Amino acid sequence: MKNIPFNRHRRLRASAGMRALVRETQLHKEDLIYPIFVIDGKNVKNEINSMPGIYQLSMDNLGAEMDEVVSLGIKSVILFGVPFDHDKDEQGTGAFHHNGLVQEATRFIKKQYSEVIVIADTCLCEYTSHGHCGVVEGEKILNDASLDLLAKTAISQAEAGADIIAPSNMMDGFVAAIRAGLDEAGYEDIPIMSYAVKYASAFYGPFRDAANGAPQFGDRKTYQMDPANRLEAFREAESDVAEGADFLIVKPALSYMDIIRDVKNNFNLPIVSYNVSGEYSMVKAAAHNGWIDEKAIVMEMLTGLKRAGSDLIITYFSKEVARWINEDNQ
Ligand code: PBG
Repeated sequence: MKNIPFNRHRRLRASAGMRALVRETQLHKEDLIYPIFVIDGKNVKNEINSMPGIYQLSMDNLGAEMDEVVSLGIKSVILFGVPFDHDKDEQGTGAFHHNGLVQEATRFIKKQYSEVIVIADTCLCEYTSHGHCGVVEGEKILNDASLDLLAKTAISQAEAGADIIAPSNMMDGFVAAIRAGLDEAGYEDIPIMSYAVKYASAFYGPFRDAANGAPQFGDRKTYQMDPANRLEAFREAESDVAEGADFLIVKPALSYMDIIRDVKNNFNLPIVSYNVSGEYSMVKAAAHNGWIDEKAIVMEMLTGLKRAGSDLIITYFSKEVARWINEDNQ
């Protein structure tokens, strides 16, 4: 026995203190970005069926939500608008109304909670009658015609006080168009957090309930990426960097950890992973059934996303995670 050489890896795992000393990855509250769905109407607080704990909130309920977010120590939120169906149109003009949902919610948050970073999701799908992320002609989603509308949307969000513009519609050239639009309008200091690598994913299912933005015909496969592809992620990220992106998002997260690592290793911008709705719902359902330990599972998943190379994580678990981190630090 004495003469067999081997390494004693267990030395560094012997106690909680020793494990903490050599831990390589740590999840911080500063890493979390919390998504909020702002719905039209008054006194609305609709829990989303497939996303327990996540609500569509009308403006008058935003204060209570933000009080909680701020008291937990979450530093940034990303806003989505959920307009009335009768306010949707072919072009998604509601996306760039001066008094649109994201615009008004941004004004409110920046006025009352000025230290919170407000990220505006910049897309048309929640505002178009057909539910696609761009302008439609027949069954075709038009690329270039959509760019103008996106730039307009970004400008109106910046005007309302958004700290970061996050375009998610996956049209080619969307970062260039938005960068040019923002610069011309005098918002050259507003960064773009691009959904650079966004796959056509079944994991978005519950979000489409939440944002009421499912496409009315076809799917998003002509603009969002094929889940089978890796090299395409490099091409997408390269273009967005060249066009002026300041952050790169990879979305979804859990089935794409290899992509997160690739993007982190090859581009020197902050990398954001989006832990999407379906990833949230699956955990909630299993936890509800008593099949898993929710806290342990969520912390493991999000720590894994950081280990894979995420600098920031957009997650519906933000409030729970912040609460757990606070409790563990006490
Ligand atoms: C809109 C958008 C989607 C998500 C974020 N922005 C849906 C989609 O592209 O179909 C999904 C987020 C989630 O599932 O949590 N373009």
